[in-house]
Amino acid sequence: MTRIVYVNGAYKRYAEAAIHAEDRGFQFADAIYEVIEVRDGKLVDATQHLSRLNNSLAELAIPRPMSDAALRIIIARVIRLNAVRNGVVYMQVTRGAGPRDFALPPADTPPTLVVLARQLRAGMADERALEGIAVKTMPDPRWARCDIKTVMLLPAVLAKEEARKEGAREVWFLDPKGAITEGGSSNAWIVTDKGVLVTRQLDPSILPGVTRLTVLDVAKALGLNVEERPFNRSEALAAQEAFLTSATQTVMPIVKIDEKLVADGRPGAIAKRLRREFYRFAAFSGV
Ligand code: PDD
Repeated sequence: MTRIVYVNGAYKRYAEAAIHAEDRGFQFADAIYEVIEVRDGKLVDATQHLSRLNNSLAELAIPRPMSDAALRIIIARVIRLNAVRNGVVYMQVTRGAGPRDFALPPADTPPTLVVLARQLRAGMADERALEGIAVKTMPDPRWARCDIKTVMLLPAVLAKEEARKEGAREVWFLDPKGAITEGGSSNAWIVTDKGVLVTRQLDPSILPGVTRLTVLDVAKALGLNVEERPFNRSEALAAQEAFLTSATQTVMPIVKIDEKLVADGRPGAIAKRLRREFYRFAAFSGV
């Protein structure tokens, strides 16, 4: 249960934590966010997440609310105040509040910063990974800068809902050429029929996932063949394995794509191995 939330300099009780009615995050989705896993009381790959947070801010010219060191102090305090051992930290920065106007506010408008932490049942993703999940493909409805982690998530929310109605936990988006970009809230991977691990190269159509980067390190250390390139739906349907990566799920095997089984419909050996090895390569930092 979330008890305390940090909002603009104050630690508030959950029910009372609020932002201004004219916050630009609320009115324009003029905001970015990050999600960091907390495991055994430590942050996973925090440096990379904070660096991406700063990149997102820079791309949108939203001022940084504070230094990384100051932000880490707040994150640590929020984790402690909420007694989180295993779960996530969510942080969001908006361009601040002011009378609604498409024109950007004065440069000295203070950004809004919200930090919250939530305990999740340990082992939940592990249980799901034993079975694997289904995904549904559909055309990517999002904008041309998916490399920025904005809170403009409505297309992903609606797409994931459509997928869920058909029993799929995730959506895989297709670009106009029919290649898979990424998931609604994860990066997409396959192991081809030749045993090559493939994930799309970094470009503006995908988020540069932090988990993706760590999994690339794991794969290289294990001596796997890796290609960063687009792959299309038919290549995915013919693959030996498919899986997704994200901070909340690490490596999650995919066993069904659009109602068609991937290989024998059971989690693949490489996905399982990458999942097992993941935390040996992730960077843990104390809070
Ligand atoms: N989502 N692609 C998208 C569109 C995402 O939203 C995410 C993460 C990822 C994976 O990035 P990372 O490995 O850094 O978590 C890829 C977070 C978890 C979320 O929105 O909850």
